Amino acid sequence: MTTEDTYQRTNKAAWNRLSEGSPFSHVATDEECRDPLSTLDGRGWLPKSVVGQDVLCLAAAGGWQSILYAVAGARVTVIDLSPGMLQLDTREAEKRGLTVRTIEGSMDNMAMLADATFDIVHQPVSTCYIPDIAAVYREIARVTRPGGLYISQHKQPTCLQVTHRDIRDRYVIGLEYYRNEALPEVRDRSYREAGTTEYLHRWDQLVGELCRSGFVIEDLREPYRANPESAPGHFGHRGRFIPPYVRLKARRIGSAGNTAAAPALWIPS
Ligand SMILES: C[S@@+](CC[C@H](N)C(=O)[O-])C[C@H]1O[C@@H](n2cnc3c(N)ncnc32)[C@H](O)[C@@H]1O
Repeated sequence: MTTEDTYQRTNKAAWNRLSEGSPFSHVATDEECRDPLSTLDGRGWLPKSVVGQDVLCLAAAGGWQSILYAVAGARVTVIDLSPGMLQLDTREAEKRGLTVRTIEGSMDNMAMLADATFDIVHQPVSTCYIPDIAAVYREIARVTRPGGLYISQHKQPTCLQVTHRDIRDRYVIGLEYYRNEALPEVRDRSYREAGTTEYLHRWDQLVGELCRSGFVIEDLREPYRANPESAPGHFGHRGRFIPPYVRLKARRIGSAGNTAAAPALWIPS
């Protein structure tokens, strides 16, 4: 069994379990479907209308993103590793009379999709489940149309370096920044999903690789997770010291298949 098989099998099994009841298996509600684009995007990153647009919900199964985009009139494809999570998309789409195409697969190999087929790729937190983020970005660049939008959220590296709290309730950065191997088990599991294998990606990889893959970054946000009222041990307390996530809005540049981050220079002969 290769390393790849091992982490993918582990993550598939973990996400199948999480699909049976976790914050990530929260499906879109009727209330959320009333104004689907505002529900998906409170920042105004999406166009005013997505009617007729091709949207890839990447590693985004669970019956939330796919349903909201479909209600908003987009043609929706979901790729996810977990059949359990994808089942929620199928079930909710059937319930609402929507069409959602679901594909079981891994984000770093989307060979089943043709080049330049999506106007929007929307990826919630999930790159942490893959060792090589550059492979994921290469695939996203390949399937996104020139001018297309890539909206994503990732765990910040520092968040994944925390191991525990010390006796003075300080968060200890106990794991090294430079690492290729999977993250070990730690005592503070605030932003680690049970049973999964995760990898830390450095800023150079999270942001730099995205630019080198043929995207320009139009905006970057850090979702606010601090709560001054929270006691040590709660997410909100930890969020006062370490922001857990980063959200990126990026635009595909160049032509299909061209992953150069800048136009090539023409040199007269
Ligand atoms: C945080 S959940 C996102 C789902 C959810 N709709 C949300 O935003 O709350 C992460 C998803 O990534 C998926 N995933 C993990 N590894 C993957 C891989 N290698 N390729 C595709 N999807 C993967 C999991 O199955 C899970 O559905």
